[in-house]
Amino acid sequence: MAKLNINGRVREIAVEADTPLLWVIREQVGLTGTKYGCGVAQCGACSVHFNGEVVRSCVIPVGGIKATDRIVTIEGLSTNASHPVQKAWAALDVPQCGYCQSGQIMAATALLKKKPRPTDADIDEAMTNICRCGTYQRIRAAVHMAAESAAGTATVSPGSPARVPARRAKSNAAKVKA
Ligand code: FES
Ligand code: FES
Repeated sequence: MAKLNINGRVREIAVEADTPLLWVIREQVGLTGTKYGCGVAQCGACSVHFNGEVVRSCVIPVGGIKATDRIVTIEGLSTNASHPVQKAWAALDVPQCGYCQSGQIMAATALLKKKPRPTDADIDEAMTNICRCGTYQRIRAAVHMAAESAAGTATVSPGSPARVPARRAKSNAAKVKA
């Protein structure tokens, strides 16, 4: 039996102690925004926040988690994709297939909490999540946009990839949460 605080709600879940947190989040709790990629802490698709730090949930056995530990998944960032990082992702049309993007967003939000104005080098160092679609340039741009938005200095220049049709941006926001 595990007692887990996920997105602010404590749940008692009947599972073996060695079950990875990722599987409990997806299978028992039904929050499928967190993805399975490699299962060995390499790709970052399964990233969630654990007491405010980004972690790879595929290698965390639930037996070691206390009810006082705070777990936040992509669904816990906002109920309607309104978190500044999610909005920057949609505005800059970041996702391609979308599979890695929940993990990318969780890594980005954790980074921005620690470093509100990260450099490209900070982003590259902190965000080691793999994107098979190669969206790294747009991820960097979106992290900068979210940082500027939080600081109240966000701008969208002509020709910027932020100029995407609203319908497409909306569909990309949906992809991020799928
Ligand atoms: S599925 Fe956890 S790091 Fe790849
Ligand atoms: S958007 Fe396809 S793997 Fe990253």
